[in-house]
Order: sequence, then structure tokens, then C-alpha cells
Amino acid sequence: MDDLIIINATIATPVGKEAKYGKEMKDIKIINKGAIIIKNGNIVDVGKTDYILDKYNTRSSNIIDAKSKCVIPGFVDSHTHFIFGGYREKEFMSRINGISYMEIMKNHGGIENTVSKTRESSFTELYKLGYQRLNNMLSFGITTVEGKSGYGLDFDTEIKQLKVMKELNENHPIDIVETYLGAHSIPKEYEGKDADYINYIIKYVIPYIAKYKLAEFCDVFCEKDVISINLSEKLLINARKNSLKLKIHADEITSSGGAELAGSLNAVSADHLLNASDDGIRSLSKNKVIATLLPLTAFCLNKPYANARKMIDEGCAVALASDFNPGSCFTNSIPLIIAISCIYMNMSVEEVLTALTLNGAAAVDREKLVGSIEKGKQGDLVILKYPNYNFLPYCTGINIVDTVIKKGAVVYKNK
Ligand code: NIG
Ligand code: FE
Repeated sequence: MDDLIIINATIATPVGKEAKYGKEMKDIKIINKGAIIIKNGNIVDVGKTDYILDKYNTRSSNIIDAKSKCVIPGFVDSHTHFIFGGYREKEFMSRINGISYMEIMKNHGGIENTVSKTRESSFTELYKLGYQRLNNMLSFGITTVEGKSGYGLDFDTEIKQLKVMKELNENHPIDIVETYLGAHSIPKEYEGKDADYINYIIKYVIPYIAKYKLAEFCDVFCEKDVISINLSEKLLINARKNSLKLKIHADEITSSGGAELAGSLNAVSADHLLNASDDGIRSLSKNKVIATLLPLTAFCLNKPYANARKMIDEGCAVALASDFNPGSCFTNSIPLIIAISCIYMNMSVEEVLTALTLNGAAAVDREKLVGSIEKGKQGDLVILKYPNYNFLPYCTGINIVDTVIKKGAVVYKNK
């Protein structure tokens, strides 16, 4: 919780404490020769450097001169599965050789593979791996991340994953938002008894998680041959009764009505949406569900990208996130997300900036706290090596983060 002043920067940020929908996504405020003053971890004022230096007594503050550098809000990665044991590089090679993600899953690879490894991993092992992965996120400028359970499926391992994230949240500068994803797959103990597994979760796991506040969100992999639309609906309705907020892995592999379900339940976000129907997209827009797109997964699975242009033109609030996980997407490269969305998904760089900051924050219900550079928000910032944000896609696939600031403290410096 330090006091800090950044001066002479080109500040570029969406503005507001709500998600940006449709056309609003391209509205980025730019302040040339700008300054930001942070006290006790929060932004106190933003304006021209002369104005800030005149108005405030800055003698006892740390000052960073960001001349020829652009300052943007810290990125919010609103969809990850970053706590897991083991790796799946063999499956990656099988996919390159033409075997599909779902074929691997049906042959007891995929999520089941990581479930075995995560069950075998101790709390300490998962904690250490999680800490290293968070350090890597920080180097990309991520200052808030969502993390899901879903690689235990049994009670003890799901709780272990959530508790690892809780402890990491205490000890690492990145803020972590925990999501319970017990309905990531049907565990082998319940093979062929999908409804029994979902009933078990509803009866025993969700009430426990709610009672001990181990997660803020509940998510489900709603997909043909994974969790049916009816069971997804039943689960999410119960999760909401237990005060959990809702997310859905929707229409990733097939068009299965996931976006429509997210709309009808007023979920906070619907994620993936590679195969969302036109009705589904309209439902997300009408019900103000954040459409969270995960282009790195489509890239790794060699699938067509989600139709971001259509979603924005229909008035949706689009967020972009990594989906970092050991199977479909073992990367969280923010530079690659930016490159793909600008070059292949027809998003403008301004829309991409909003999608990775304020709309990402809205996807984890943090839009009042982070996601933009303005008075009252947390002092979470990224200083880029270059003078404007066009360099983000222009330096294709390259990390151009210079410094990361979390709650007013420098937490990462690219030497
Ligand atoms: O979002 N699709 C479901 N869950 C993850 C992949 C999980 C895995 O394969 O381990 C995803 O892509
Ligand atoms: Fe995912």
C-alpha cells in the first residue's frame, strides 16, 4: 500500500465502473503527458502532469518518470485453470497428429488425466507451482486472475485446489478470484451416472463451499458428452441459491445452447462461445452477460475463433482471457491474445484493451474496483516500453511490459 506518482506518461484507459457494451468498447481515454497519483494503494487523481504536480505535495512520494511510455490498467485474466498437477504434452502431440480434444477425453485422457495427477499432488506442490505460474502472469501485466478448481472432482481435491488459491491470494501480489468447477467432467467413480454426480455436488460440495466462502463463482463445462444442458441448469440454479455467482463454459466444441442458458440465468459470464448461435448471442446482449472469449484455446485446438465482431455489433460486452490450462491451452500469452484478436478476430486495439481490462474485471465482478485508471480504483497499472498502445499488437507476440504496479507498489520490472 505505497504512495506513488507516475508522471509524463501517455495514459490510455477505458473509463467507468461498469462493463462496456457494444460500441462503448472502443472508447478509450488518452491523456498525453499524464500523471497518476496513488495513495494507500488507491488512485487519488489522474490528470496532466503539471496539474498533478501543482495540486499535490509530492515531496515524500516515489516518482516514476514514464516519459515515452504508455500506461494502461493492469490486465484481468478472467478465465484460467492454473492449479493442477502434471502435464499433457503427449496429448498435444496427438492433437497435432489429428486426434481431436473430445476423442482424447472419451479415451480417458484429457481432464481425467489431469484429475489423477492433481489428486496425487500435495497442497505444497500445487502451491509452489501456482506461485511460479502467478509470477509468470505478473510478467505479462496481469494483476487480477480468476482460477478454477475442477481437477479433483472428488471433495478433498476440489477443496484442496480452492484452498491453495486462497493461500496464494494472501501471499502473492496478484488478486485471485476463486471459482468452483466441480462440474468440469463426470469423474470415473460416477461413470454413466451423470445425474447422481451432479446431485452429489448439489447436496454436499456446494453448501460446504458456500459455508466456508471457498469460492465466489460456480462454473460448469456445459457440452455434449460432458455435462448436459439440463444438468448444467440444475446445478447453476442450486449454486445461485447458495449465493455463488455463475459462469458457464458455453458452446466451446458444439452449439449446445450454453449461451442461451447463460442469458436465461443471468450468469455473470459465458465463456468460449466458439459455436454460439445467433439467438445465444442476442440473449447474452439482452441479459448483459459478459461474453468471455478465449482465442488461445481456439488457436491451440486449431478451431475457428469466436465471432467477436458479431457479438460487439449485437451490443455484447466482450472480455478476453487466457483459459490457461494443461490440456486445451497450455499458454497464457497476453501478447498472443492481443495479436490474434486484432489480426484474426476483427477487434480494434481499443476494443481489445477494454476486453482485457474493464470487461475482464466485470467478468469477475470487480469492475468497481479495478480495470481502469481513474480516481477511486485500485492502483493496478502496467507501464509499457513504448509510447502508445498500438505497439501491443504491432510487437506481435512479444511482451512489451516494462513495469507492473499493484496497489501502488512496483511488483515487476522487466530488466
Ligand atoms: O476451458 N473446456 C473445458 N475446460 C478447459 C480445458 C480443460 C482441460 O482440457 O484440462 C477449457 O478449455
Ligand atoms: Fe476453461
